Amino acid sequence: MQALLNEILDQVRPLLGQGQVADYIPALAEVPANQLGIAVYGVDGSLHTAGDATTAFSIQSISKVFSLVQAIQHSGEDIWQRLGHEPSGQPFNSLVQLEFERGRPRNPFINAGALVICDINQSRFAAPALSMRDFARRLSGNAHVVADMKVAESEYQHRARNAAAAYLMQAFGNFHNDVETVLRSYFHHCALAMNCVDLARACGFLANQGLCTHSGEQLLTPRQTQQVNAIMATSGLYDEAGNFAYRVGLPGKSGVGGGIVAVVPGRFSVCVWSPELNPAGNSLAGMAALELLSERIGGSVF
Ligand code: DON
Repeated sequence: MQALLNEILDQVRPLLGQGQVADYIPALAEVPANQLGIAVYGVDGSLHTAGDATTAFSIQSISKVFSLVQAIQHSGEDIWQRLGHEPSGQPFNSLVQLEFERGRPRNPFINAGALVICDINQSRFAAPALSMRDFARRLSGNAHVVADMKVAESEYQHRARNAAAAYLMQAFGNFHNDVETVLRSYFHHCALAMNCVDLARACGFLANQGLCTHSGEQLLTPRQTQQVNAIMATSGLYDEAGNFAYRVGLPGKSGVGGGIVAVVPGRFSVCVWSPELNPAGNSLAGMAALELLSERIGGSVF
């Protein structure tokens, strides 16, 4: 595995320079583009890394997996009264479908759906941002995970589209807490700074039927774990979920910080990171690295 990871990074490195670092969140535009890392965490607890695997980055939408898991833990199937688990076929921050579908987001990974999940968690936790930070610490086994408050503040200052989605849902009766408070929680968990090793470890339970190998905690039932993986496979990369299924063939979740996590059920979880994005907002080199990895190990679930 170690030799394979080194070889994959060597192969995709020429792609650096061909994408665009996210700049709609100004604090993210400052991240040096020329970085690439990967970490693979086996269900047996083995860890392999290559490149910039211990450099922290903004996890952004990867946090939507963790907030969904929190919501499933305390509310189970009830959450589906508020949103769906269908792919949207739309960019992550699109608003058009939300009006047509009367304020009910298609899935928990587009921004509107993640905001509903945050609203559900806001009703449940006294301090949702801290609950999420502590959850990320527990999942990763890294007690030093913190949010980058400069990124969180930058997102809040440029919140117009997310605020529009949340207020539209409020107008349809599908938002129960103060919108600005929920936006603050949402930006806080998107701004968590973690590295490839943290995220591969944090997603290990998705490869291991809901059981976190290093903490021994059963986070979800095996059935719930399959369901989360199914939503990742169909919606984790937004309007590029089909392309990701075609090229990589794994449940995955991307973030505009350039991270992508993916899961090979029963075998390992992986996180790859490179800040430059393709036009759909997914890491350009990251996609290519996962495609090579999946191909080389015969990992596609299809
Ligand atoms: O709300 C936003 O736009 C960002 N905090 C998260 C978007 C994101 O990561 C989309 N992923 N590819």
